[in-house]
Amino acid sequence: MTELILALDVPDRKEALNIAESCAPFIDAIKVGYPLVLSSGLSIAEDLASPGLPLIADFKVADIPNTNRLICEVVFSAGFDAVIAHGFVGADAARACIEVAHSHSGKAYIVAEMSHPGATEFFHDGVAERIAALAVRCGADGIIAPATRPERVARLREIVGDKAIYSPGIGAQGGDLDAVARLVDGVIVGRSIYAADDPAAAAERLSRICR
Ligand code: XMP
Repeated sequence: MTELILALDVPDRKEALNIAESCAPFIDAIKVGYPLVLSSGLSIAEDLASPGLPLIADFKVADIPNTNRLICEVVFSAGFDAVIAHGFVGADAARACIEVAHSHSGKAYIVAEMSHPGATEFFHDGVAERIAALAVRCGADGIIAPATRPERVARLREIVGDKAIYSPGIGAQGGDLDAVARLVDGVIVGRSIYAADDPAAAAERLSRICR
């Protein structure tokens, strides 16, 4: 089974909560990022608690270790279950996020390679492979890898072994769910669900492929 994670990039609190509630039966976790938190505040984590799904804070944390630690303390104290952090900032900075996550019995995922076209400007020449290795070395719970490049996901799988791989880029960014579903532990889907005429129906359709 591949988890289906809803990227709830809806900058309106009420609409976001409605979509989360209607999609809840078909999804395995909710990912919240800047669009929703900056518009609604961190208390959105409490509001989203009722479906009982894991909540992932996608802040792509990328600062010095001390600041990363402070950010992650706030994230987990607000009620999130996991955080996404960048790995290119180095092992000490990534480790700060991972340590805070684990001290809250939470999880930390490290971005190894991004899904958009511009990502290849810098994530090449083995950079993503090195970040994936860093994630393993630092004890991260998994990595984020691009559904838009299944061959890269397969390559990064060789490095992370049975650590989790969560993969954004399905649908709106051109990634094909069928091509990555069996390579990853979970797919992260935003617009193909929340911008659909019927988000719950879209989530149900995708969840059938995942299961
Ligand atoms: P869409 O609407 O494109 O949303 O389905 C995808 C969601 O995933 C996030 N995203 C990424 N997050 N590494 C990440 O950590 C990536 O490479 C990446 N690509 C997309 C995006 O912000 C949105 O929430």
